Amino acid sequence: MIETRIVDRHDWAPGLVTLKLEHAFAELEPGQWTNVALDVDGERVRRAYSLASAPGAPAELFVSLVPGGRFTPRLLALSPGDAIHLDEKPQGFFTLKWVPKAHELWLMATGTGLAPYVSMLRQGDVLSRFERVVVVHGVRSEAELAYRDEIVALGAEHVPAVSRVQGRITALIERGELTIDPGRAHVMLCGNPAMIAEVSRLLEARGLRKHRQRKPGHVTTESYWEVR
Ligand SMILES: Cc1cc2nc3c(=O)[nH]c(=O)nc-3n(C[C@H](O)[C@H](O)[C@H](O)COP(=O)(O)OP(=O)(O)OC[C@H]3O[C@@H](n4cnc5c(N)ncnc54)[C@H](O)[C@@H]3O)c2cc1C
Ligand SMILES: NC(=O)c1ccc[n+]([C@@H]2O[C@H](COP(=O)([O-])OP(=O)(O)OC[C@H]3O[C@@H](n4cnc5c(N)ncnc54)[C@H](OP(=O)(O)O)[C@@H]3O)[C@@H](O)[C@H]2O)c1
Repeated sequence: MIETRIVDRHDWAPGLVTLKLEHAFAELEPGQWTNVALDVDGERVRRAYSLASAPGAPAELFVSLVPGGRFTPRLLALSPGDAIHLDEKPQGFFTLKWVPKAHELWLMATGTGLAPYVSMLRQGDVLSRFERVVVVHGVRSEAELAYRDEIVALGAEHVPAVSRVQGRITALIERGELTIDPGRAHVMLCGNPAMIAEVSRLLEARGLRKHRQRKPGHVTTESYWEVR
């Protein structure tokens, strides 16, 4: 692993932060993740984090606190100047390289599942490849709609799904507010595994199948944890 330092920290809401690091990954494919490690009580503990940064830019992590978690209470206690460890190379297949041709790209996330999409939009390829790019962000409160201004400034549409205001992403789909046409759209889903399972079912009922390299479909997913 490589050692780097935190150079900037932005708190969007209590327990929701962006950490900017000194190290820049030149070989990053937007959508990929890296292991982040800290030494906890003499033991090295590592967790996977998507990179929100563009290739070649200082690495950026978008992290939420999991109360009682082993890693996040320690990571979120850090400040600029503190050291952390990263993999030498990012990894993962939740990238545009594996997304088939489509007219529209729907990027749906709960919470910090937004990070891969921020990286894709910052790189710019996504906007030249699709006629329409729509980010749908499910969060508990308005303050957690992180990166919204930047997403819009970069040229994507942004649909908020604040639980107690618009309702969950699933509610938006059930109410017919997201016009996802199987003949035109590819959908990426990232974050909470329960959201991924429920949205996948709703999309399947509307004619959108899971995408596989051998059997092309419409839906690509990345879960941040296992369903308990
Ligand atoms: C490919 C990949 C990319 C990831 N990218 C990010 C990212 O960009 N930002 C980010 O914040 N997290 C991300 N995660 C989740 C991250 O790796 C950790 O699991 C998370 O930060 C919790 O770590 P912890 O040690 O504090 O909790 P743990 O002690 O490991 O977890 C306690 C329990 O909390 C649940 N849990 C795990 N993560 C979450 C979560 N985010 N929200 C609610 N419950 C959770 C799980 O059921 C877990 O068993 C990613 C995971 C994967 C697999
Ligand atoms: N962010 C906070 O204010 C807060 C507060 C206390 C604890 N935490 C802890 O922080 C961690 C991460 O929280 P988070 O808010 O970033 O992530 P999260 O729990 O995944 O919630 C993010 C968004 O996803 C929605 N969601 C949850 N399950 C869904 C499903 N099956 N289908 C569609 N949408 C779904 C949530 O709606 P709902 O709001 O309806 O669940 C919320 O809008 C968790 O461990 C959580 O317990 C967060």
